[in-house]
Amino acid sequence: MERSLAIIKPDAVKKHSFGEILAHIKNAGFTILGFKMVRLTEEQAGAFYAIHKERPFYGELVKFMTSGPVVPIALEKENAVADFRVLIGATDPAEAADGTIRKLFGASKGENAIHGSDSVENGKYEVNFFFAESELAANGRSQA
Ligand code: RTP
Ligand code: MG
Repeated sequence: MERSLAIIKPDAVKKHSFGEILAHIKNAGFTILGFKMVRLTEEQAGAFYAIHKERPFYGELVKFMTSGPVVPIALEKENAVADFRVLIGATDPAEAADGTIRKLFGASKGENAIHGSDSVENGKYEVNFFFAESELAANGRSQA
């Protein structure tokens, strides 16, 4: 079983799209191990997206990710990382395939509704960034 981290971004939380997005994720066969609503500090958002530190959009990205509450969601499935990237679609909602979460809920390349881990290694790291193993255990056990 593989893990991936989703984050419902501030634009989608503000539009109350959480329930609809969660239904898309569930219907695509992902086990939802846990979720929480949090307001990221600048330090947390900066650390989470540290890989983009040198990119021109980094400052804007950190500002956006701290502009309101977000909902990190720990997911599990076979091939979770690649399958979730397909489910969310391209970074720019205008280029995302029909039916993808970004096409349905995203507004622009910056405000694109949802994050998804981009590698198996990052999936593990990012789930651990937001969740202690004890917070995920109950749902994991019920799926066994
Ligand atoms: P994410 O990490 O959030 O799942 O998105 P991604 O892999 O599809 O895209 P990535 O290249 O990792 O970029 C991270 C986030 O930065 C914002 N971004 N803005 N204005 C721009 O040109 C630009 N490029 C990227 C987006 O919010 C993107 O999701
Ligand atoms: Mg990325």
